[in-house]
Amino acid sequence: MVKVAPSMLSADFSKLGQELVKVTESGADWAHLDVMDGMFVPNLTFGAPVVKAIRKHSDIPFDVHLMIEDPIRYVKDFADAGADWITVHVEADGDIKGALKRIRELGKRPGISLNPDTPVESIKDYLALVDQVLVMTVQPGFGGQKFRENGPGKIAAIREMIDGSGRDILISVDGGINRETGKRCVDAGADVLVAGSYLFKLGDMAPEIALWKQW
Ligand code: DX5
Ligand code: ZN
Repeated sequence: MVKVAPSMLSADFSKLGQELVKVTESGADWAHLDVMDGMFVPNLTFGAPVVKAIRKHSDIPFDVHLMIEDPIRYVKDFADAGADWITVHVEADGDIKGALKRIRELGKRPGISLNPDTPVESIKDYLALVDQVLVMTVQPGFGGQKFRENGPGKIAAIREMIDGSGRDILISVDGGINRETGKRCVDAGADVLVAGSYLFKLGDMAPEIALWKQW
């Protein structure tokens, strides 16, 4: 079954706790939390204190997407704040394998993400360390961008790579996901659909989430 992870980047930040409750009650599988440092991407969002503050509003798994340089510096803070999944970027500076190992040691599920222009081969050496590959279908930094058409092909190639590894790894896709692009990604082999602007623009996201979960 497909999992749906609404991106809280499109939520109303002035009432993030209530927005998280809404997402949970709409049947979402995970809440996707986009952390940006103004260096790896040209935008800033929030850090571990905000994750900790909203943790008490819901038991839904937190899927923390770290768009930050040298992420090993902060993985413990996010683990302590209540993250369940912590994903770092293959393009980020610093010891990325070390960060993934640290996430595992902290009892959390590690993920590796790659940008639209990053070749799929770049994640090969990381597959032994992760439980999730997060395929970006927009250049990270902002919600509401257009889906990049090379996404489904990359997902299919990563699916093959994962099958060859013999490991059980989820493929998530993030950026420009709507009913049409989401379905194409699922058909290509995606397990988790991350969607921000499309879901939050709906008055009630529950029927859309229910539809996607059946794909
Ligand atoms: C982009 C973030 C995404 C973003 C997706 O940098 O990683 O999670 O919120 O937003 P939409 O679904 O609007 O493209
Ligand atoms: Zn994201």
